[in-house]
Amino acid sequence: MASFSERVSSTISNSLVGLAVSMSWEVGIFQALLDTEVPLTSHQVAQAKGLKERYVRELLGCMSVAEFVRIVEGEDGTFLYTLEEEAKKALQSRLAALLTFPAVLSSTYSSVKECVFQHGPAGHSYSDRVQAFFDNFLEYDAPLLTSAFLENVPNLQTKLEQGIDVIEYGAGQGQLSATLASKFPNSHFVASEVVSSLVDKSRTRWDHISNLSFSLDDACSLQERPGHEFDWVFCNNVIHDLPDPVAALQGIKRVLKKPEGVFTFLDHAFSGSPLKEKGNLDVARYYATGTFLCIPESYQREESLALGPCWGKQTSVGMLQNAGYLVEVVTLDKARALFICHHSKET
Ligand SMILES: C[S@@+](CC[C@H](N)C(=O)[O-])C[C@H]1O[C@@H](n2cnc3c(N)ncnc32)[C@H](O)[C@@H]1O
Repeated sequence: MASFSERVSSTISNSLVGLAVSMSWEVGIFQALLDTEVPLTSHQVAQAKGLKERYVRELLGCMSVAEFVRIVEGEDGTFLYTLEEEAKKALQSRLAALLTFPAVLSSTYSSVKECVFQHGPAGHSYSDRVQAFFDNFLEYDAPLLTSAFLENVPNLQTKLEQGIDVIEYGAGQGQLSATLASKFPNSHFVASEVVSSLVDKSRTRWDHISNLSFSLDDACSLQERPGHEFDWVFCNNVIHDLPDPVAALQGIKRVLKKPEGVFTFLDHAFSGSPLKEKGNLDVARYYATGTFLCIPESYQREESLALGPCWGKQTSVGMLQNAGYLVEVVTLDKARALFICHHSKET
């Protein structure tokens, strides 16, 4: 294994290059290279995107040394930049949303640092920038997550085709609910959020979808709705972010039709132990994400559990069972799992 100094040094290099990747994406340098079939000079990239050439040249220097951009020397000694076909394809996938991650995390750095200190605030809510980042991911993820639900939850597709009542908690700007509502016009969907500005944005954005409505709810204090329970409750990337996930799981049970209702959510299902995950940088990345995003979000109340994304499969399944659910966990990829929950017979 590389020495401590080598590993820290390479992590710092990767972090700094990551920031430059974010910047190159956000100001349009990658886009300029995506839009062309011929290699471009830094002047041409700068001109195409209304940028200062000196900054573009520095960023392209970084991107080409890191081998994200191909560099060749023209006959007159000028450097020319282009993207490999593989890179072009990747930049049109989910990776495009990921490219802004370093910039998004760094935008939270100062305020999170305040929170870390004993005398500082416990947490703070997601900024508009962070919320926009989640929404951007859903541009790519909504179809994928829709398939994950339909392929793994028994009879869900048939029920949705026939017409059922559905609610999504912590829906952000409602993109996942909107995707499902458009696909299943016989069912009625509610996109619910605790942040009123997100409810307003959803309403404006998806007003044209007649079987989708919007609601302002704190998922941690859901009350019974006799006769108006939901057939399907779902969420994506929400439960570990809640200040009181136990109350939320109990509340969701109250609003879920009995006995046939199903609650499904997508979340992380790592081991929950930094010891067991030792050396796994994919998981280390989620502890970092937890520090800058999930912990401050959920820790807005001092008494919050502040689980973080690495809360662990054992913890999540235990919590669900204690709340009275029968749980099945389906692993979707390295980082995500689908939790399928039914009322247990005893409750
Ligand atoms: C990580 S974001 C995920 C947003 C969206 N589901 C997605 O897939 O992009 C977590 C969401 O949970 C919402 N949230 C946080 N606390 C909540 C609460 N107590 N009740 C309902 N939603 C909550 C946040 O406002 C935020 O939109």
